[in-house]
Amino acid sequence: MKEFVSVIMAAGLGTRMKSDRAKVLHPVLGKPMLYFPLQAVRALRPKAISVVVGHQAERVREAMGTDPGLVYALQKEQKGTADALKAGVAPLGKVRSTLLVLNGDMPLIRTETLKALIAFHRRQKNALTLSSFITPDPTGYGRVLRDDRDRVSGIVEQKDATTDQLRIPEVNGGLYVMEPGVLDLLSQIRPANRAGEYYLTDIVGLSVSEGLKVGACLVEEEDLRGVNSRKELAEAAGILRMRILEGLMADGVSVMQPGSVFIEPEVKVGRDTFIYPNVVIEGRSRIGAGCHIFPGVRIVNSKVEDGAVVKDGCVIEDSRIGPGCSVGPFAHLRPGSVLKKDVKVGNFVELKKAVLRDGAKASHLSYLGDAEIGRGVNIGAGTITCNYDGTHKHQTVIGEGVFIGSDTQLVAPVKVGKGAYVGAGSTITGDVPAGSLALTRVRQRNIEGWVKKRALVKGKK
Ligand code: UD1
Ligand code: CA
Repeated sequence: MKEFVSVIMAAGLGTRMKSDRAKVLHPVLGKPMLYFPLQAVRALRPKAISVVVGHQAERVREAMGTDPGLVYALQKEQKGTADALKAGVAPLGKVRSTLLVLNGDMPLIRTETLKALIAFHRRQKNALTLSSFITPDPTGYGRVLRDDRDRVSGIVEQKDATTDQLRIPEVNGGLYVMEPGVLDLLSQIRPANRAGEYYLTDIVGLSVSEGLKVGACLVEEEDLRGVNSRKELAEAAGILRMRILEGLMADGVSVMQPGSVFIEPEVKVGRDTFIYPNVVIEGRSRIGAGCHIFPGVRIVNSKVEDGAVVKDGCVIEDSRIGPGCSVGPFAHLRPGSVLKKDVKVGNFVELKKAVLRDGAKASHLSYLGDAEIGRGVNIGAGTITCNYDGTHKHQTVIGEGVFIGSDTQLVAPVKVGKGAYVGAGSTITGDVPAGSLALTRVRQRNIEGWVKKRALVKGKK
């Protein structure tokens, strides 16, 4: 693609959101709304991108981060989109290439659509190209005005439109391609409208009067849907969610009930993986090939490797599940948990910063925190690492092949050497040497005939 620069306008407050948070920071599938148009533009590798910030400028900058091609332009007062563009081009110096301008509130815009719009602009040799779509409900959008020869003659905003103009079904999408000369007309725009704002849309009429070639390119309505309210936000999120799922299905992932599955945009899922209903996968999670993610699982910033199974009702956060592992049902992997190969973590097991090496098992009702668990270890039901002394966290280290009997407490810091056994019900407060058996429970005593004697005593009363 020939050189171009881009301005994304994102300084507005978004009054219609009724929020303390700037509109472009409202999350859509875990990302600020502005992330989506920015990504769509980035993929075309423009020479520079200028993001116009104003309302909560600092937070917008923080959320979007920095990269070499990205500059932020401050629009001090939100006086309208023409003023926003003026602010946006300022840090770009003298613009000499084609300029792509976008509203920041269109999370559904796709790279392909931008590419097609720029191509149309160049094919038509336009000075200014706007994007438009025809919709049964044009409410809120600027209407595209055409002359008797059907040429674009201007845009009129909803607030300023006559009854006849309000009936025009072709609306302005808020996406423009222009040659640098058009920018000179910005200074002629006056806030002579009901909102008292400097409307970028006035540049269309101005360009036409200057004899410049102006055209409108019809674009899919879906791409151009502006988000101004919470309802539109929810609708846009729904469309994006389906696009992501359709993309995964096209790549060989089975999504059993797309209506109930949420997968965020940066997640990757391998072939022949089955995603059951009510699954949520967030952040930078990576799911391998041939995995089963059963109903009601939430996975956040975690890696699940090939062939692993995560059964119903698990929460997996910042953790790693190695190939062939089985987790759940109802397990909670808190940050820093690592399951190597073929590990089994069963019902009601909570892990935190726990490493379980190949073939280790913790099948029932355990808490393992700050623990290193060797290959082939068996952790009996109800085993608890007492990792916290009220002030500090301490480590539990369990060697290869160890057998920990049920209902054991391991009071950290503590080490259990290779191959050792710990008897059920033990409270382990000191290290256990390799190959030994540790028992801390009281020896069992049976009092014969006790029940009968007790009954006799009772009967006397
Ligand atoms: C705008 C268009 C309208 C079009 C619609 C498409 C104008 C005057 N109207 O209306 O024709 O149909 O988009 O969705 O442009 N912004 C700033 N600074 C400002 C004002 C706005 O940066 O001073 C940013 C906003 O953050 C937003 C974008 O510009 O991302 C559009 O502003 P918005 O108020 O949403 O415009 P609309 O009324 O939707
Ligand atoms: Ca808008």
